[in-house]
Amino acid sequence: METISFEEFLRRLPKAELHCHLVGAIPAETAWEIATRNGVELPASGPESLYDFGQFYEFIERYMQVAEAMRTREDFAQAAYAALRAGHLAGNVRYREMFFNPTDHYRGGVAYPDLVDGLLDGIRQAEQDFGVRCRLIPSINRMESPAVAVDMVRDVLRWRRDEVIGIGLDAAEPSGPPENFAEAYRLAEDAGLHRTAHVCEDYAGLDGGPPANALTALDLLHCDRLDHGYNLLADPAALARCRDAAVPFTVCEPGSNEARLPKRRESIRAMIDAGLPVSLHSDDPAMHGADPGDVYVGAVTALGLDVDGAIDLCLAAVDAAWLDDTERRELRSAFRQEIAGLRDRLA
Ligand code: HPA
Ligand code: ZN
Repeated sequence: METISFEEFLRRLPKAELHCHLVGAIPAETAWEIATRNGVELPASGPESLYDFGQFYEFIERYMQVAEAMRTREDFAQAAYAALRAGHLAGNVRYREMFFNPTDHYRGGVAYPDLVDGLLDGIRQAEQDFGVRCRLIPSINRMESPAVAVDMVRDVLRWRRDEVIGIGLDAAEPSGPPENFAEAYRLAEDAGLHRTAHVCEDYAGLDGGPPANALTALDLLHCDRLDHGYNLLADPAALARCRDAAVPFTVCEPGSNEARLPKRRESIRAMIDAGLPVSLHSDDPAMHGADPGDVYVGAVTALGLDVDGAIDLCLAAVDAAWLDDTERRELRSAFRQEIAGLRDRLA
């Protein structure tokens, strides 16, 4: 039997990705091809430099430019398929709940039904070809107004699809505190959708996302999961409330070459030590140049986790997924079986 290294073991661990944005996961060549086909000029000389940017706000700008360049149902099918194929090849992603931002795409003129049905076309093809399953989380761009967010949720409900299982909230946290979106979240909750939100993100210190945002997301938006959460560590009382609520946090590596990496990993370690249910994800793997395999190798090594620690982290994502009891049991058992096979081959 061929043996594998610990690094290879981490790359091949089956993964459930709960924090991954469609646009951030489109390989640059695919994004470039879509924009070119639509006659949209992107601010780069080619796919090699499309994802070159500096700080967070430059990233968000590029993200929105790529989103706007997507125009047709076929574009969305191609993008979803390419994003899932990349996760399959680079990190054995077996299940994904993928964010997409409808209002960023509306800027290019596409209507919600074309957008969502295109994504579903790509998802179904990827499931056939790679066995990966994917559900969708339409996400509010918090730089938009509360009214725009409400209209977005209305679109989601008007063209309801089984694979659309919850809503999210992302982009620049200082521009849109969670309380702005109470009405949008209430509509989603009343319709039986799950709710998560990016909170306490660390890109601009506590000005990025203050700890209070986590509590607002729980108490006002009734979130059943939260994304990021690092700045929560600055407020022990808020941290204790989240721990007592046992709300799962999806944490991410901020890309391979960033100066923020050591601090981010320190925060993730502290969140685990504080007893928060934490799972690890790739966020924007193509745009940040760190695929799900890289993320596991980087974080697990930096956190000093052993084989059992890595497996626990991997299964924590299954626990936090928006699956029903039967689906969760099945996914957990499939993961356990695959992990046992990998473990036997560890050198
Ligand atoms: N934070 C905020 N907005 C985003 C992110 C993120 O990590 N990724 C894509 N949009
Ligand atoms: Zn994110």
